[in-house]
This record gives sequence, C-alpha cells and structure tokens, in this order.
Amino acid sequence: MNPFSILDTRTKDWKNRKDWWITTCGIQSELGREDTQSRTMFWDSPTNVSVFDPVLCELMYDWFSPKGGMVLDPFSGGSVRGIVAEELGRKYIGIDLSHSQIEANKQQSNKPTWICGDSDTELDKLHNESYDFVFTCPPYYDLEVYSDSPLDISTMNDTDFDEKYKSILQKSVSKLKQNRFYCIVVSEVREQSKTGDYKIGKYKRLVSKTIDILEEGGLSFYNDMVLFNSQHQASRVGKTYFERNRKIPSVHQNILVFVKGNPDIATIEIEGGDPMCRVDGKEYLSFRHAAIDIYPNELVATEVQRRCLSTKSKYKEWQIIGEETTPTIKCEVDGIPFESPKQISDLVGLSENECRYRVDSNNPIYRHWKRTDEWDITYQEMQDLWKGIIRLELPMISCDGMEFYSLNEAGEYYNISSERVRQKLNSDKYFNWIYLDNIFIHK
Ligand SMILES: C[S@@+](CC[C@H](N)C(=O)[O-])C[C@H]1O[C@@H](n2cnc3c(N)ncnc32)[C@H](O)[C@@H]1O
Repeated sequence: MNPFSILDTRTKDWKNRKDWWITTCGIQSELGREDTQSRTMFWDSPTNVSVFDPVLCELMYDWFSPKGGMVLDPFSGGSVRGIVAEELGRKYIGIDLSHSQIEANKQQSNKPTWICGDSDTELDKLHNESYDFVFTCPPYYDLEVYSDSPLDISTMNDTDFDEKYKSILQKSVSKLKQNRFYCIVVSEVREQSKTGDYKIGKYKRLVSKTIDILEEGGLSFYNDMVLFNSQHQASRVGKTYFERNRKIPSVHQNILVFVKGNPDIATIEIEGGDPMCRVDGKEYLSFRHAAIDIYPNELVATEVQRRCLSTKSKYKEWQIIGEETTPTIKCEVDGIPFESPKQISDLVGLSENECRYRVDSNNPIYRHWKRTDEWDITYQEMQDLWKGIIRLELPMISCDGMEFYSLNEAGEYYNISSERVRQKLNSDKYFNWIYLDNIFIHK
C-alpha cells in the first residue's frame, strides 16, 4: 500500500484485505455497542454504528510503530485495534469506559489488555514515557452516544467534552516515549439544529481542536491523511442536504499523525535492528541514528563513523559494537603508556613541545621517555596506569648513594668540577660512583 495522504477503502485490495482480517481473526468490532445512539448518516455499517477499519489499523501499526512495541489506546471502542495490534506482534493496552464494550472485546480475544474505566483516571495509573505508539479514535462529540455514563464524553455538552477530551489526550501524550508517533482518527461533526434551537450546522472543529490539543501537549503535527470511506450512504442521502443548504456530505475521516521528538529517530527505532554503535554508553541502530540524536545540526553519520573508528582516547566513548577500538600507544614515560606527547602534556602539565622533545631526547635523564608500539591495552587500563607516579626526570648518576641528575649538580654538591665527577665515575677506585642504568652503555 503506497503511503500517500489519501487511503482509499473502496479499492478491491482494501476490501479483500479487510475481509481477510475480519474472517481470519474473527473480528466483530461492532459488538458491545448495542446501546449506542448514532446520528451518523454516512457510516457504511449494517448497525449504523461506526466500525473501525482493520486495514487502517494494519497500515498505521506497520508504518508508525515498532514490532514488539507497546500500543496505548485511550478510547479503545471495538476489538479491532486491539486484535490487529496483537496479530502484528505489538502489545496493545486499550481503555474504554463501556463495560459491555470491554466484555464484548474480551469475548473476541484476550491477547490485548482491555481496561474498563474512565481514561481520565486510568491513564494516571500507567507509567509515563513507556508506550511506543498511541493509536485511537475518540467519540466525535455526540455523533454517537455510547452510554449514559456522565463520564462518557459522548454524553457531554461541547464545553465539557472539550475539557475532558483535552485532559485525556494530553495524559495519553505523557505516556508516549520520546521519538515516537501518535495517530488519532477524527472527523468533523456539525452542530445540531433542534426545534426552538436553530443552528446553521457549522462544524465544531474537532479536527483542528485535536491538533491544537496535541501540539499544546508537546507533539508536532506531522502527517495529515484522509481515509476515503464508502460514498454509498452519502450518495443516498447527501444530495438532499446539498440541495437544501449546500452541506457537503463527508465521505472521509482525518487520520492525524503526530510525532513526539524526532521523526528521523522515531523511524530508525521503528525499523529496529541490532544496535551497531555506542556513544557515551547509549546504543544506536546506525551512525545516522547517533548523529541525529546527539547533534542533529552539526553531526553527520560519516563523522560518527569516523569517531567510532578512531582509536584516540577522546573518542573512546564512541564505539562500533563488537569492533571496539583500543588506544594506539605511541609513547611511554616511566613505563606508563600514552597515545601522544599531547596526552602526556595534558596529564603532567609540561608543554606538548617539551614532552615531544623529551620523548625523542637522548638526554639520559629522559631515558624513561620513549616511543613505543608494544602496548595492547584498553582505554580503562591505560587511564588506570596514569594514576601511578610518573617521574618526569630520572637521576643519571649515584655518588656514594646520592643520586644526581647531572654531573654539574654532583659537582656543585661536592664542590668539584663536573670533569672531576666524570673522572671519578669512570674510575674503578670510586666504585660507589656510578652511572645509573648503565646509561653510557645504551645511549
Ligand atoms: C467507539 S470509540 C469511537 C468510535 C470509533 N469509530 C471506533 O470505532 O473506534 C469511542 C469509545 O470511547 C469510549 N469512551 C467515551 N468516554 C470515555 C472515557 N471517558 N474514557 C474511556 N473511554 C471513553 C466509549 O465508550 C466508546 O467505546
């Protein structure tokens, strides 16, 4: 089915698919609504009450919810949205005020979770940000009155309807996870003219009010689709209305899709798959997923990939899962590994140039600064080693147990010339005057 903004229920494919759902899953979504008072003229249903379309359910779950996802419906109505969700591997939680409705649904399937109660209170019992999709179809004001319960919004006057409708919808928004879609099917309803209370029959703006309520609740209006219903009823009675006062019979319903957060991330997460990279401990399904979630304005997938492949410490929290990198140790000081002179500089406080100089220096007091490629350790192991004591210079001679960093220093201490110190170091007579670490042999 092409994801276009008009979904045509009159096509052969659609009708065949609908029949397939109804026969295969024994969906009798019209059941449980025997007490419904309907003044709908254009529903194409034998009982003249609205019956939600299983094919529409299938498309909305397939397009806007993740397999295995949790679906919330604050106005569950008949069984169809619940049964199709479970058949498509989603977990469905549907709330409806009508006891007879819930019982009729349970008769048809116990896989969905049916909650009987006022959504305005039942939703408060559910965890916030824990559902992957909200999919619902509310009462359209009093177009159909489902019960005589004062909590049933279809029984309320427009003001009370708007207030409770807003409360229920905005509570359902808070139950939706970030980066997820929200779909609601609504239609316009005209004000009713009654004897002694003439009305022109203008629309009550249920569609635009729903958009305002959900945007105010934190969602972004994202897709606007139309469900093209059968024209059968409309062509039968609509002409009268049109001729009388140019009322256009409605043969469609509005399918409004909203997104909470980012639609790109929502789509990536709906498609699912195994996590492939991890950034700062958070797993992502793709480099693009990470880029959009972390810095949508600055980061692109290729830069995420570059950072994940980099062995540099500054990107150690950027990893491809299963191909984790380890640091490339290029130098060490006093047996402590570093990736670069810059890294030494950051740790010991000497300038980067000074560190580079010491690594490449032949000065014996920096003999423990060296280039190396012998290390194979993790970032954590490297950083643990940094906690050790790092001697920035090593004494080069020992004179009677006293260590000195230069011949000059020893000379000053013993008040002799550095040349005299050298002589003593090279003389067998002064066997306690030695070069440390056989400096001269190696360097
Ligand atoms: C049936 S649906 C809307 C019709 C739609 N065409 C359908 O088939 O899904 C509306 C449902 O909202 C329920 N309802 C009305 N007020 C409610 C409330 N405060 N809390 C929960 N459900 C409510 C009614 O019992 C009714 O079953």
